[in-house]
Amino acid sequence: MPETRLTLRRPDDWHVHLRDGDRLAQVLGETARVFARAIVMPNLEAPVTTVKDAAAYRNRINRSVKGARFTPLMTLYLTDTSDPDEVEKGYRSGVVIACKLYPAHATTNAEHGVTDVANIRSVLARMEKVGLPLLVHGEVTDPDVDVFDREVVFIERVLAPLVKDFPGLRVVFEHVTTAEAVAFVRESREGIAATITPHHLMINRNAMFRGGFRPHAYCLPVAKREVHRLALRQAAVSGEPRFFLGTDSAPHAAAAKESACGCAGIYNAPVAMAAYATVFEEEGALDRLENFSSHSGAAFYGLPVNEDTLVLERAPFAVPERLGDMVPFLAGETLPWRVAGLGGPTRGPVL
Ligand code: DOR
Ligand code: ZN
Repeated sequence: MPETRLTLRRPDDWHVHLRDGDRLAQVLGETARVFARAIVMPNLEAPVTTVKDAAAYRNRINRSVKGARFTPLMTLYLTDTSDPDEVEKGYRSGVVIACKLYPAHATTNAEHGVTDVANIRSVLARMEKVGLPLLVHGEVTDPDVDVFDREVVFIERVLAPLVKDFPGLRVVFEHVTTAEAVAFVRESREGIAATITPHHLMINRNAMFRGGFRPHAYCLPVAKREVHRLALRQAAVSGEPRFFLGTDSAPHAAAAKESACGCAGIYNAPVAMAAYATVFEEEGALDRLENFSSHSGAAFYGLPVNEDTLVLERAPFAVPERLGDMVPFLAGETLPWRVAGLGGPTRGPVL
């Protein structure tokens, strides 16, 4: 008999976009009812570049939570003019858990990103010194590089040298999409990890072109060939602590995606844990889901695992076609697992 209920230590989302204002109010509950903590991306329209910005944004999130037990973990958006002292202040104040490197123009609201890593060397050196992790959007923006090769070229041109030049810097290669990225992380020195999204585990690039152009399957880094999806699945279910959960849930209005120049981003918060459970079950690895969702990320960030639990149940979960003005990931599909709710504290040992 397959299991019908699965109780996990409550998971954390180590990479999410919660936006701001009305959109924040609309999407936050989907993350906060499932995940105990989340690393909140700083790519607001006016990016979160100072400790003051991060603290104010955290307050807006906390005011929006409405009763859920949820802790937002804040990041700073690095620019060409980021100041090492500001970054250190963020770390020392406890407001900032990591800094995010967006190569300039790589993705949504990345216009103010870093044009050349050479410009942030003093910041990286300080982060290395104090122990603040660097979160990386790993794509080059060189228009001569094929869009499907941007991650692999980023490894060669930027990430491999960076990891070597700052041997003590902790780095999360966010939302990896290729077999090469998986291999890079696996073969790297200590302190290098990666997040993996539900969508990159479930779709390959064909999903964008199924019977016509499908903007709701478009995100960055873009989904790659099937061989890469299979490598990501293998990494996620491997139990290796370097690979952990990060949804990259990235809400946009449907109209902004169904456009002549549609936004990148997949809104998966409403389905994320059901989707991960489905993938792990398909891979015969449900027993390793908790490692990926609830242990490995906390260990990387040096945080305790959560004491409360999340209960998933095997029951058809029909994903709505729309949620407000948005189209969620897997809209209209039915998943075999759904979130039943939070459970109480575990009695077992803290692993
Ligand atoms: O698809 C994406 N959407 N990738 C990103 O890196 C950013 C995100 C967003 O903020 O919409
Ligand atoms: Zn993201």
